[in-house]
Amino acid sequence: MVTGLVMKQKVLKVGRNDPCPCGSGKKYKKCCAGNQDKAPLDISGEYHRKYGIRIKQQKDIDGIRKAGQLVIDTLDMVENKIRPGMTTDDINTLVHEFTIKHHATPACLNYKGFPKSVCTSVNEVICHGIPGDRVLKGGDIINVDVTSILEAYYADANKTFFVGAPGPDAKKIVNVAAGSLKAALSIAAPGQRIGDIGFAIQDYAEGRGCSVVREFVGHGVGFEFHEPPQVPHFGRQGEGIELVPGMVFTVEPMINIGGKKLNVLDDNWTAVTADKSLSAQFEQTILITETGCESLTPYDIDSVIERSS
Ligand code: MF3
Ligand code: CO
Ligand code: CO
Repeated sequence: MVTGLVMKQKVLKVGRNDPCPCGSGKKYKKCCAGNQDKAPLDISGEYHRKYGIRIKQQKDIDGIRKAGQLVIDTLDMVENKIRPGMTTDDINTLVHEFTIKHHATPACLNYKGFPKSVCTSVNEVICHGIPGDRVLKGGDIINVDVTSILEAYYADANKTFFVGAPGPDAKKIVNVAAGSLKAALSIAAPGQRIGDIGFAIQDYAEGRGCSVVREFVGHGVGFEFHEPPQVPHFGRQGEGIELVPGMVFTVEPMINIGGKKLNVLDDNWTAVTADKSLSAQFEQTILITETGCESLTPYDIDSVIERSS
């Protein structure tokens, strides 16, 4: 249960002309005074008013976890079927049919005009690759990014797979991208800040000679596909919003073996590395708990790291 949110409530005397304790900068009388529905010292209300962040209740967490289980089952299904000769559209069909069969909706389909049910990003494609007639060949890497809506809850996760046997660069970039996500999850906890997550990723990836994409970020998720806050994969320690129990957001570092610059193709979706170098990504939806974090899309990152070492 998300008890910490309630435990932090206290009764304090605040003068009507004092600054409002919700942090708005306005006088208390012009802000939260007399508004019992928006108790100023309730963390959940404060995070919603200040940042637009919707802290999740236990029933919501259970719903997102259930959607998350379907997402990782979908990724497992794809991983078992992927092979040279398939097209990215074949993966779209697999994901679409599996999602529907499990009474869920693919969140990508028609999202802001996206025409398919999943993103498939091959080699130099950073993210938002549109499934089509590209044929996978041995030595490729492909990121499959699945977001499902189950009983109105969204969960979002992705993995980068090897097609056939990987070469040394493919192994390296998958290894560093997976390690970057692991580094972030290992420090995500109440009291840490959004900037600490970005720092952990940037420090890990750049320390291994790779670069971090700036234009796409992690995001709150659960009630909607993309909710506040934004979660950059670069940053400074101690900066940004403090993490509190009940926050649910993605961490999804996109790591390039070359430079960090990107171009978006004429389809207005596909982001590719400007230097055509390999890019890899791993994403999970995580919950901040009282003591750390829990993945709501839990797949084994260590086995990815081992297989790419
Ligand atoms: N799943 C992506 C993310 O991690 C978003 C894809 S949006 C789409 O945020 F429209 F391209 F599907
Ligand atoms: Co995401
Ligand atoms: Co995603």
